[in-house]
Amino acid sequence: MSNYHIKNLEEYYQVYRRSVRDPELFWEEIAEEHFVWRKTWRKVLEYDFSVPEVKWFEGAELNITENCIDRHLVTRGDKTAILFEPNNPNESPLEISYRDLYRRVNKFANVLKENGIEKGDRVCIYLPMIPDLAISLLACARIGAVHSVVFAGFSASALATRINDCEAKMVITSDGAYRGAKKIDLKGIVNEALESCSLVKTVLVSKRIDSKPNMIKGRDKWLSPLLDVASEECEPEVMKAEDPLFVLYTSGSTGNPKGMLHTVAGYMVYTAYTFKNAFNYKESDVYWCTADIGWITGHSYIVYGPLANGATTVMFEGVPSYPDFGRFWEIIEKHKVTQFYTAPTAIRALAKENLDYVKKHDLSSIKVLGTVGEPINEEAWHWYNDNVGKKKNPIIDTWWQTETGGMMISPIPYVTPTKPTYATLPLPGIQLALMDNKGNEIFGNQVDGRLCVKFPWPSMARSIWGNHQRYKETYFSQFKGMYFTGDGALRDEVGYYRITGRVDDVIIVSGHNLGTAPIEDAINEHPAVAESAIVGFPHDIKGNALYGYVILKEVGEGRDHDNLRKEINQIITEHIGPIAKLDRIQFTQGLPKTRSGKIMRRILRKIAHNELDDLGDVSTLLNPEVVQTIIEKRIKNELVN
Ligand code: PRX
Repeated sequence: MSNYHIKNLEEYYQVYRRSVRDPELFWEEIAEEHFVWRKTWRKVLEYDFSVPEVKWFEGAELNITENCIDRHLVTRGDKTAILFEPNNPNESPLEISYRDLYRRVNKFANVLKENGIEKGDRVCIYLPMIPDLAISLLACARIGAVHSVVFAGFSASALATRINDCEAKMVITSDGAYRGAKKIDLKGIVNEALESCSLVKTVLVSKRIDSKPNMIKGRDKWLSPLLDVASEECEPEVMKAEDPLFVLYTSGSTGNPKGMLHTVAGYMVYTAYTFKNAFNYKESDVYWCTADIGWITGHSYIVYGPLANGATTVMFEGVPSYPDFGRFWEIIEKHKVTQFYTAPTAIRALAKENLDYVKKHDLSSIKVLGTVGEPINEEAWHWYNDNVGKKKNPIIDTWWQTETGGMMISPIPYVTPTKPTYATLPLPGIQLALMDNKGNEIFGNQVDGRLCVKFPWPSMARSIWGNHQRYKETYFSQFKGMYFTGDGALRDEVGYYRITGRVDDVIIVSGHNLGTAPIEDAINEHPAVAESAIVGFPHDIKGNALYGYVILKEVGEGRDHDNLRKEINQIITEHIGPIAKLDRIQFTQGLPKTRSGKIMRRILRKIAHNELDDLGDVSTLLNPEVVQTIIEKRIKNELVN
């Protein structure tokens, strides 16, 4: 029996029990057998959740790119590592072999060095889904620079906040991006962002759309001439196990985004291990994850996890609706994709379209289907199972977070019997707990509570960049000696987990993690706005959408509310990006508040959900009368909409 590849349910339980009984031995065996190290570790694990401090494989030395590239050259040199499918279906795909990848990453790494990047420096990457994106991550990792990818849908202001927070010296971007029928001026966004980022000395620009962007002399350089003359050899920097690999920002319920810090060795071991098991990955498979590398899913399961296993990973530049709603299915047929990993929001959007889009493509290559990022509702699960999986392929509903680095709860295909809407069982090494409001663990089955993890796992984030105190407060302070996920979950009669949603002020919209506070801060900058409160409400395609209650400074009948709604969404787009736009905006003269002045979001959530009969006790509010006024306006709004 191998811990590394679990083949049946009995084996899963045995492996799981072993991983709990002796976690250090468990991970040590995996690390020893499946990776290359320059130097081995002194100690597998050292941790103290009260600090909090977690160290895996202390004393070990390695470079993750040797594990993702170099070691495959002998046996897989000609195998496709990255299969790039462009936005335009008439443009040829690009197959980058492991040997090509080696050359490209080394060249890129040398360009970084020549432009002053050293081990430990932060490099911000703001690129569309083109090969240079994956290559730039690996190039940073090759020389020990810390990459911080910002999803290329974020606005100039959101980009600037992230660049400044991690004090990046360099930005890597492109002249623009294709997104379906649209072209997006990424370089223009970078130029605007950099007006407020004084530390950035160099901008490397990849050419994608042949635009003529404004290049700032002395700062901005086209990448391709630099790559042309760079050497194809670049010695990998020898990294310590706990050296930083990357920072990736995620929203919090308050304040600025949190730069989650991931470190080299543990992240590598865990993403590779989970990739192998959760996708039942085999050597000749063609694996496709539709996420953007700007999110953790793309980091772990487009780049590092697949490449560490020597896999062929598809990278798709476009969108599911271009040139028509059959694009995903066309790509599966074209490249004979064996594992397909996507978001419930994409499934719901595609399920609304004519079934012929799916039916006309041969999807018989598929072996495993996956979902990630948000709960999948029963209807979407069945549509996916019936029409894409043809009822014969397992669907893995994978629960995890930017903070966890890799999947935590997921069926193992052909091993764990699946159950719609359930992420099922913890992966080996993951020790979960459900907690009640008083901080006690809830044992047994058929229970629900707050989802925590009681023992470290290798790919957990080690800190929030520049703010360890916030890391401690956010994740390790609610429940003593545990990592708190921010999610609620239930455990059914057989021990399967189902995620019930966030229990804090984070809202998952189309699988994207959005904190309410930064959106409210953006809205409050509108000169007409006095105060605002955002809550989520159920949405057919996005899972959740945003509902904003907005108090205006002057209440005049003469105001053009439709125009204000547009301006508010415009401000959100500028501060954060279009993903955070509000679906509904209700103007109100007050917000329900406690006597200490805290907004009672529970009530606002119920009103947004239209659960008007079940508001609970409002008598303790500072201003109970305001609730009725909000409800009346809500009802009127419904009639107008
Ligand atoms: O609420 C959970 C939800 O997404 C949150 C994490 O978001 P993010 O850090 O952006 O990472 C998303 C990709 C890993 C979680 O706290 N979530 C993620 N996967 C699932 C999920 N909710 C239910 N089911 C899932 N499979």
